[in-house]
Amino acid sequence: MKVEKMEQELKEKIDFQKVPGHVAVIMDGNGRWAVERGLPRHEGHRQGVETVREVVRCANELGIKIITMFAFSTENWRRPAWEVNYLMSLPEKYFQTELPELIRENVKVNLLGDSSRLPGKVKKAVDEGTEATRNNTGMILNFALNYGGRSEILLAVNRMLQDAREGKIKGKVNEKDFNRYLYTSELPDPDLLIRTSGEKRISNFLLWQLAYSELWFTEVYWPDFSKVHLMEAVYDYQLRKRRFGKV
Ligand code: IPE
Ligand code: IPE
Ligand code: MG
Repeated sequence: MKVEKMEQELKEKIDFQKVPGHVAVIMDGNGRWAVERGLPRHEGHRQGVETVREVVRCANELGIKIITMFAFSTENWRRPAWEVNYLMSLPEKYFQTELPELIRENVKVNLLGDSSRLPGKVKKAVDEGTEATRNNTGMILNFALNYGGRSEILLAVNRMLQDAREGKIKGKVNEKDFNRYLYTSELPDPDLLIRTSGEKRISNFLLWQLAYSELWFTEVYWPDFSKVHLMEAVYDYQLRKRRFGKV
């Protein structure tokens, strides 16, 4: 079926009053996409950035309120230095071309992750993006960069211990209190998690926040992911019955 036709069909089926508010995405399969085409892995990452542009645009069009993109995990430092360096050159490239549109579209950019270990140029690019969109009130675009779910939880625990020592915490903490110490303190949990490339694992992404998210997997590699796939995921999400433990 032609892409335009699929898009049209999905548009008719999706209930635009009920799109997931927060969508989290594990963008996976760049390397395999490239290798299967006889290209070096970084070509997959280059193409992957194009997909980010498109998906962010489409998420905004669909009325998604928050989109959280897993761009670099705390475990990704284990990759060869050249690949880490290449990945670290991408935020700058992305913001260079996209920032004017993000500003125009009222998108608010955020960073989730430990920015202290990021190279200066990456931090600078993301800070500029965050700063320039700080007062925007439209879609929230989170980039998880040097993000790890376990390290986020530990950071929260250690901050809480510090606050307890300073007498700012009295008695027991509940889930709501704990939430305030996470990178996502201001945000609702993801309603939908998308992972591309056929892998069916969380890979240390948003361990606390994904507790009740709907999971959607596709074999499609990230560079081939497009608007139609995002719409498919949204439509599939709408067919789910979320019970949260109830009947
Ligand atoms: C996703 O693609 C990009 C990052 C994890 C940074 P991969 O680079 O993991 O691609 P595969 O999984 O090796 O194909
Ligand atoms: C998860 O992908 C991290 C990102 C998408 C940034 P990986 O490719 O690193 O995950 P594993 O190693 O296959 O679990
Ligand atoms: Mg991978």
